[in-house]
Amino acid sequence: MTHEIAVVPGDGIGQEVTPAAVDVLDALDIDFEFTEAEAGDAVAEETGEPLPEDTYDLAASADATLFGAAGETAADVILPLREAVDSFVNVRPATAYPGVDAVRPETDLVFLRENTEGVYAGHEDRLTDDVATLTRVTTETASRRLAEFACEYVQDGDHDGFTIAHKANVMRETDGLFRETVAEVADENGVATDEVLMDAFATRVCLDPTQFDVVVCPNLAGDVLSDLAAGLVGGLGLLPSANVGPDRALFEPVHGTAPDIAGDGVANPAAAILSAAMLLEYLEYDDEAASVRTAVETTLEDGPRTGDLGGDAETADVTNAIIERL
Ligand code: NAI
Ligand code: MG
Repeated sequence: MTHEIAVVPGDGIGQEVTPAAVDVLDALDIDFEFTEAEAGDAVAEETGEPLPEDTYDLAASADATLFGAAGETAADVILPLREAVDSFVNVRPATAYPGVDAVRPETDLVFLRENTEGVYAGHEDRLTDDVATLTRVTTETASRRLAEFACEYVQDGDHDGFTIAHKANVMRETDGLFRETVAEVADENGVATDEVLMDAFATRVCLDPTQFDVVVCPNLAGDVLSDLAAGLVGGLGLLPSANVGPDRALFEPVHGTAPDIAGDGVANPAAAILSAAMLLEYLEYDDEAASVRTAVETTLEDGPRTGDLGGDAETADVTNAIIERL
């Protein structure tokens, strides 16, 4: 079976780490057909359009998309791309690795973030010079879809249940509906849940991240809390993510274009390659996904390492070492 993979490297180090992830996928014995497409600042400068229609259509039809990063146009690229795959959940693992300097080396968390609504749904108004407003949207439909995914996620993996992080004590209607719906779905599926107020979560996860495992959150909370967890594991160069929809998905490192090092060939490809491992898992190549993950872990521990991790290796050295360890 052939899998069509859209490859959208974007700008900056997206141009360096995305090909590295493709090289790793190419080294496996799987029939992938890669099609590359443009997005981001560079294409916007040329054509005025950060996300060409062809790229949107490609992501909307491919089995999966590998995205790198976009620069100033990031919001104009990634939000529509997530929509192209009808993504309702952003899966963000935050795992510390042996050999990598981390604030909390015991961190091993997965955030399942609602990916379509909340305060990011874009209903903002500037009423007067003095007043701006934002309408927050929460639906039972989106909360339910997320919760069903979360139940499957914990049942398929080695997880006892999940934590719902919210602020329903203040946002009684919106987070109230979210919390109530997610808990109800978990109950229907026999999945254990506990709850934590999102601000308390921020403190507790810093003090002891082992209190948590899978964390289900509304959009903004998931964005902020997963970035906080990224800080605990020691670096943006390590965090992959998946935007999952009902029929397809888009995989991307959490980091951006890293303009300070772009073009030098020294970016850490680990986040992009771990995103490729999530793609493999999504397409049900579990053994291959595990092999890629182990190869990345061994390389993080034994080297070679890029500059962000204190080494002096280039992107290509790290990528080749990972491929040799597959
Ligand atoms: P950034 O993630 O690009 O860089 C932050 C710091 O982390 C920099 O010092 C960078 O060198 C380092 N870094 C990030 N990834 C690395 C890697 N793989 N290897 C080694 N070092 C790495 O975030 P920043 O600086 O806030 O944003 C830069 C640009 O990226 C902006 O134009 C922003 O809009 C865009 N951006 C795009 C995203 C996306 O497309 N999903 C996400 C975040 C930012
Ligand atoms: Mg973010």
